Amino acid sequence: MNIGIIGAGKVGIALGRTLKARGFHIAVIASRRTASLDEARRYLGDESAYTLDNLAVFDAADVVAVTTQDREIRKVADEAFAAGLPLDGKVVFHTSGAHASTELSPLDRKGAFLGSFHPLQTFPDIDSGVAVLPETSIFIEGDEKALSVLRTLASAAGREWVLLAKEHKVLYHLSAVFVCNLLAALLHSGEAIMKRIDIDLTPFYPIIRATLKNIEAKGPLFSLTGPVVRGDAGTIASHLDAMDGMERQKEVYRSLSRVALEMAEERGTLTAEQIAALKALLKG
Ligand SMILES: NC(=O)c1ccc[n+]([C@@H]2O[C@H](COP(=O)([O-])OP(=O)(O)OC[C@H]3O[C@@H](n4cnc5c(N)ncnc54)[C@H](OP(=O)(O)O)[C@@H]3O)[C@@H](O)[C@H]2O)c1
Repeated sequence: MNIGIIGAGKVGIALGRTLKARGFHIAVIASRRTASLDEARRYLGDESAYTLDNLAVFDAADVVAVTTQDREIRKVADEAFAAGLPLDGKVVFHTSGAHASTELSPLDRKGAFLGSFHPLQTFPDIDSGVAVLPETSIFIEGDEKALSVLRTLASAAGREWVLLAKEHKVLYHLSAVFVCNLLAALLHSGEAIMKRIDIDLTPFYPIIRATLKNIEAKGPLFSLTGPVVRGDAGTIASHLDAMDGMERQKEVYRSLSRVALEMAEERGTLTAEQIAALKALLKG
């Protein structure tokens, strides 16, 4: 298959590079800026064509990956639709976790089969994307004809493919935001507390890694330790006092400690009196 990529960014280049290494032909890559195409060329070499014209990709490729930012996907589709290109039998997919394949929907009226292909992974830069893609689960969704191509690409580029229903896309993405993006926000929140005593995250990485390892082995419920699950109301009261003037941290602490309290209740680690005392302390 002739693969084309629109959007020479982190995901587009990492995906192109990985597929090329697995023997796929990356025919053409388009982007808005020459600098992005130069970067793509460093990873994909001179066998691919590079262009500032998205329509050239729709013309030359039979499988088109739209790897632009989410907000640009519909614009790329609208541009191809308005140009009136025949897309009969072509497969067009995007790599957004938040949107379903319908984000490309004018193009099915031109004969294209549509899909979405989301590597459940974080790509802060191209090299780390290339490094982690092979161990990544790729969630796919779309028309049956598109899915047969996406299954092949996902099996080649990632660890496995997982089929997702269109209507589950938002909850799927929300799950990823909770466990990945908001985890970073939580650690950033914790850093602000550390700054008060002039320490940073460095000595905390071993405990963070051990927690993630435990979670992977036994799930979050049975990995929870700390004052809530032990019913140490005095410790929690001292934490809340120490966050004087740190309203954001207090809000996060209370909210997540209430979740921890529900977990402790589920595990049956606390007496009814301990639960009542903690609930009183943690109410917002
Ligand atoms: N980063 C992640 O962690 C991650 C993980 C999984 C999935 N995704 C998804 O993958 C997609 C790409 O994300 P990314 O992080 O790779 O973004 P990115 O690094 O910002 O790259 C997007 C690229 O698209 C190009 N572009 C934007 N509008 C365009 C247009 N109208 N025509 C042609 N090219 C255009 C930009 O090129 P120029 O530089 O030329 O302007 C930019 O380099 C998004 O849908 C995102 O949700 C991202």
